[in-house]
Order: sequence, then C-alpha cells, then structure tokens
Amino acid sequence: MKKGSAAPSTAVGLRLEKAARAAYARAYAPYSGFSVGAAVLAGSGKIYAGCNVENASYGLCTCAERTAIAGAVSAGERKIRAVAVYTPTAKPTAPCGACRQIIFEFGPDAAVTSVCDSAERIDTRIAALLPSAFSGKSLKRK
Ligand code: THU
Repeated sequence: MKKGSAAPSTAVGLRLEKAARAAYARAYAPYSGFSVGAAVLAGSGKIYAGCNVENASYGLCTCAERTAIAGAVSAGERKIRAVAVYTPTAKPTAPCGACRQIIFEFGPDAAVTSVCDSAERIDTRIAALLPSAFSGKSLKRK
C-alpha cells in the first residue's frame, strides 16, 4: 500500500478508524436502528467524519459514507484517499452500492476499511468493491 494511504495499523489509518467510531455515536437512525459512522482521509490530509442521517420519508436517508464525503467536498476537498466505516456489529459492514459509486467519484484509488466490534475487518480498495466502475470517463462519447 502506498505511503500516506492510511493503510491499516498506520497512525493515520488508526486515526481514521477512531474518527469513524466517534461519528457513529452521532448517528441519527431512529427508523432502522442501524447506526453507522464513517470517516474519509482527504487529499489535504485532513479527516472528515459523518454518520447516517435518517428521515421519516425513508428514501431520504443518507448513509454515513456520503455524509462524510459531502463534508469533505464542501470544505473544498476533491480527493478521497481512504475511507473507514464502523458499525457496532459482529461482522464488518462494507459500503452500500450507492456509496461505492460516490467514493469512486472522488477516490478511484481509495483504500476502504470496515471495522466492527469483533476482530473481523475488511481492508480493500474501492476498485475491488466496484469493478468496471461508471465514471466521468464513461461520459466521453468518442
Ligand atoms: N447505511 C450506511 O450509513 N452506510 C452503508 O454503507 C450501509 C447503510 C445506513 C443507511 C441507513 O440509515 C441504515 O444504515 C440502514 O440501512
């Protein structure tokens, strides 16, 4: 894994996981009862955290990963280097399909880590979670 890529067990990787765990505590998930915390390491080296934000109109629920990325982009970031997701479960939770697409937009090379309340974890890359991704390149006609 490349230097500064927030590889697991590096200082920045651990900070990213810690930020995802802290964000989980702020989740608003009264409908599903499934709280999620996420954090992204952006191009500047800063970490942005987010939680899932649900709504009585269920289709408007926002995932933790997307909340974190929206915060990073709103702060002026355009590159996502790594993503960490925390759920208080026995198995780690991989980002949903929609979030994979949004992670890919800003971090086609991003590392993705999912941690939970057991020692099980997922350490992968967005390209592995979203093969043959649709992207801005796909919009070129010729
Ligand atoms: N959720 C996330 O925040 N991230 C994911 O990758 C999977 C799902 C949230 C959305 C919803 O608030 C709850 O988990 C149940 O689907």
